[in-house]
Amino acid sequence: MKGLVLSGGKGTRLRPLTYTGPKQLVPVANKPVLFYALEDLVEAGVTEIGIVISPETGDQVKQTTGDGSQFGARITYILQAQPLGIAHGIKVAEEFLAGEPFILFLGDNFIRGGIVPQVEAFRTQAMDAQIILYEMQDPSSMGVAVLNSEGRVERVVEKPKQFISPFAVIGIYMFGASVFDAVNNIKPSARGELEITDTIQYLVDKGLNVRAHKLTDEWVDTGRIGDMLEANRLVLEVMEKKNEGTVENSVLEGRVVLEEGARVINSKIRGPAIIGKRTVVENAFVGPYTAIHHDCEIRNCEIEHSIVLENSCLEELHTRIADSLIGRNVNIHRAEGPTKTIRLMLGDFSQVGI
Ligand code: DAU
Repeated sequence: MKGLVLSGGKGTRLRPLTYTGPKQLVPVANKPVLFYALEDLVEAGVTEIGIVISPETGDQVKQTTGDGSQFGARITYILQAQPLGIAHGIKVAEEFLAGEPFILFLGDNFIRGGIVPQVEAFRTQAMDAQIILYEMQDPSSMGVAVLNSEGRVERVVEKPKQFISPFAVIGIYMFGASVFDAVNNIKPSARGELEITDTIQYLVDKGLNVRAHKLTDEWVDTGRIGDMLEANRLVLEVMEKKNEGTVENSVLEGRVVLEEGARVINSKIRGPAIIGKRTVVENAFVGPYTAIHHDCEIRNCEIEHSIVLENSCLEELHTRIADSLIGRNVNIHRAEGPTKTIRLMLGDFSQVGI
């Protein structure tokens, strides 16, 4: 069985972060979200993996992910010239997949419990496709599945305007060779994409055996800032504490991970939290559910429930930063001048809450 991970697309909902990098490389607990997908596949015994990349961000994905040896996998990169839909991603990978059954994993999806049981079921039970469902109050921003009274998949609709069912179809799918007939026959949707939901509906309409597995553990589509923070929380919550850095005159409470060369001076860190390589935290408070990436400086300020990407500096702030996603090479510091004024230089599509 092969794996196909989609790491192309546009990432418009995470702008401005996605102006300089693909959303699949935004870190969750200091590790690109894409890496969790690769680890989940390898854990389920799938080591022959194709990654679909875009011309704009493909090089960054390649550079960060490499040939797959760091995961115990073999990775082939497949270029999708334009983001014409998830099913189009399958089409461009047809040669790589060579008619084998495969697992399609959207590179921005995060599932806490891994995929071993679902892959096992797909391997051992005769089925043409398997989808995974996650019950939500409002699944209207997802593909949604309607089941019949016997629990079989009846209908799958992309982002339905009206409530039709509580079951979101998550971005991890398992297909046999019949899916190629589907992706080669469906037509682009109103938004101009070959939809994965239409692909599944095609298989259902052909009377093929499409099974649905209801998920009981946590799943997050990391497309938006709130979802990134949630995925971060889910990983930090179960991380083992570790100290590969140095601590001077400071208090570390609960699950705190200090990566190699991290320095904590005159500060308090209340876990769960992770401090990246060579990052300095001085005269500061870092509160629960915070991930500070590598080479950052956090001085004379307070931050909690936030993600800070590499090489950023937060210094001398009067207010506590919370619920925030701060990009790479960002500098936030106390400005000279009247105390009630704030000075900003923000990229397009930035969001600031004051
Ligand atoms: O997360 C689950 C949802 O993912 C499903 O419930 C929906 O049915 C499915 O359509 C998809 O919805 P999104 O609107 O979240 O899809 P998005 O455009 O964000 O793309 C998902 C991933 O696939 C993302 O990592 C980018 C990648 N992608 C997307 C497209 C459209 C590609 O690599 N190529 C593409 O052409």
